[in-house]
Parts: sequence; structure tokens; C-alpha cells
Amino acid sequence: MPKINLKLLKNQIKKAIGSAKDLKELNDIFKRYLGKRGELTQVLRSLEKLPKIRRAKVGKEANELKNFLRIKCDQKAIGIKEKIRKETAKIEWIDITRPGEKPVLGHLHPLSQVKNKAEEIFQLMGFSMVEGPEIETEWYNFDALNIPKDHPARDLWDTLWLKDNYKLKTKNYKLLLRTHTSPVQIRYMEKNNPPLRIIVPGRVFRHEATDASHEINFYQVEGLMVDKKVSVANFKAIIQEFFQKFFKKPIEIRLRPGYFPFTEPSFEVDMTCLTCGGKGCSVCSQTGWLEMMGAGMVHPNVFKAAGLNPKNWQGFAFGMGLDRLAMMKYKINDIRLFYSGDLRFLNQF
Ligand code: DAH
Repeated sequence: MPKINLKLLKNQIKKAIGSAKDLKELNDIFKRYLGKRGELTQVLRSLEKLPKIRRAKVGKEANELKNFLRIKCDQKAIGIKEKIRKETAKIEWIDITRPGEKPVLGHLHPLSQVKNKAEEIFQLMGFSMVEGPEIETEWYNFDALNIPKDHPARDLWDTLWLKDNYKLKTKNYKLLLRTHTSPVQIRYMEKNNPPLRIIVPGRVFRHEATDASHEINFYQVEGLMVDKKVSVANFKAIIQEFFQKFFKKPIEIRLRPGYFPFTEPSFEVDMTCLTCGGKGCSVCSQTGWLEMMGAGMVHPNVFKAAGLNPKNWQGFAFGMGLDRLAMMKYKINDIRLFYSGDLRFLNQF
């Protein structure tokens, strides 16, 4: 029987617990005294071997020490946990009064907004929306539109040619990036019989130097209406209605003679200058008019190329620049801004 010095043991316990730095150390201390082979456990076990008188006294003291150890360990554990909580709170604190972060919501590009608006207005007037491929054959982009090979008219459209050719049956067609949306006129009339009313919004490409009013790619809206009796008067009424709805202002338009191989007669279409209301200003070069689109009555050769008999049908076609429309609407003076991806510009719409 070892000599039992409970006072000494109590002092040791006090010291050990006092210097415990974390929960693991505390746990080890507890085990050291009260585990299976713990020092205090051994004392408690040896009690029965003591003479009765001593047993009662030592037993009482040993049990008090056991409770003492338990309580001290519990208190110390609470202290350590609180310390950990305070330290993590210092690093990971959350300010619940701070306003939440607003998610950045995107929106449609101004050109998409203008395209959607144009589609909506034309659809209200009975036009369907049709699309065509951006990679086109020479046939649809030029030949079928009555633009003969080697004719100077081709110079009107600076073309980006592709290296690959497209083979259809025995014929080999050169491929290009479409220079306008007009080829979709042919594509649509090949498959659909008149009467028809379509608009074709889409991206087009030109091989040219860029400046404030020219880009190598931009957007057009093509229009085509074919029936037994469709006149220039119908065209004028529809386009005037379109501009008034689009700009939400009374607008006048005028037709000037123009030249396009796929229409006869052909026109350039002007509308009242929005900035000065027609009085003349720097935007319209003092004329009071702004040039908005090319148009005309569908050329008989175009009907023929699409497999329709020009004796049975007549119609008008037009093509306008969507970018130009957007520039007028929002008073933007450089087309390149649309393609810059600059959020300072885009966030204004
Ligand atoms: N395709 C022409 C261009 O890009 C615009 C155009 C003019 C379209 C007359 C037409 C039209 O449909 O009839 O310059």
C-alpha cells in the first residue's frame, strides 16, 4: 500500500489543470488521475485494504478529491471553449448589420433591344421573322440577287471570302460571310409561295476599314413583301408606320432614286431628322433628312432565281442597318461602341 498523500495529489491536480492549454491536454490530465490506471483511481481502489477507521477518513477525502477533479476539469473546459470561441470570432466575425451584396444582373445588349423592338412592330403588321445562315454561297449572296459575275456592282459589297467551297450536285460554290441579309429573300421564296411578308434580322460582314460609322460586322433587318398587287405606296405606308412606332414620334419619310441590282426601281429612304425635326442641323448635314435604308420593287430576275414567275407576283424589299437605327434612337455617334464590350457604355441601356 503506497503512502497516500492526498494533499500532494490535490496540489498536483490543481497545477496540472491550471496549466492545461487545450481540451486534449485537459483530457489527458483527467485520465492520468481518474482513468483506469489513474493515480486517484488506484487510491480509491486501495481503500478496502485500509483499516476501518482510516478507510472512512481517507475515503471521504479521496471522494472529495474526485469531485474536485471533475468540477475543475469541467470549469477549465468551459474556459478553454470560451477562449477558442473568442479567438475564432476575432477572425471570422460576421457583421449582421451589413447590407447584403447585390447580385449583378445582366441585361440585353442595346442592339438586341432594338432588334426585338423592330421585330415586335413588324410582327404586329403581319410580318414573320425569318433567319438565314451567316456563311453564304456566292450564289445566294450575289448571283441569285441579279448581281452578275465581274460586274462592278459587286464592289458595293466588300466581301470576306472563305477558303472552302461548297459542292452541291455537280456545281461548286464559293463560300463567303454574307455581306447583307438579302440572300434570305431567295432562300425563303424557294421554299414558300407568296403571298408572303417576312423580316430577316441578322449579322452581316464586310471587308473594310473601321471608323465611327463602319464596322467589319454589323446587323441588318431585311424586309420582303410579295403578293399579286404590292405597290411602292404600300411600302411607304408600312415603313412610315414602322418609324413612327419605333421612335414614338410623328415621322415623315421620302424616297430618292437609288441603285440596287435586285430591285427595279430602287430607292434610298430618308426620314425626318430626329435631332432638329427637319429644320436642318449638323447631324443631318443641314438637310433635315437622315438616310435610313435601301429599298425597291423586287427585280423580275430575283423572282426567277427563286423559282417564281415574275408575271404572277410583285413585291417590295428593303434592307436597313440595325446599328444605325440604334445609333439614331440612343444618339450614339460611334458604331464601334456596340462591339467594344465596354461595360461603361453597355450599362447605360
Ligand atoms: N442589301 C442592301 C445592302 O446591304 C440593302 C438593300 C437595298 C436591301 C435594297 C434590299 C433592297 O432588300 O431592296 O446594301
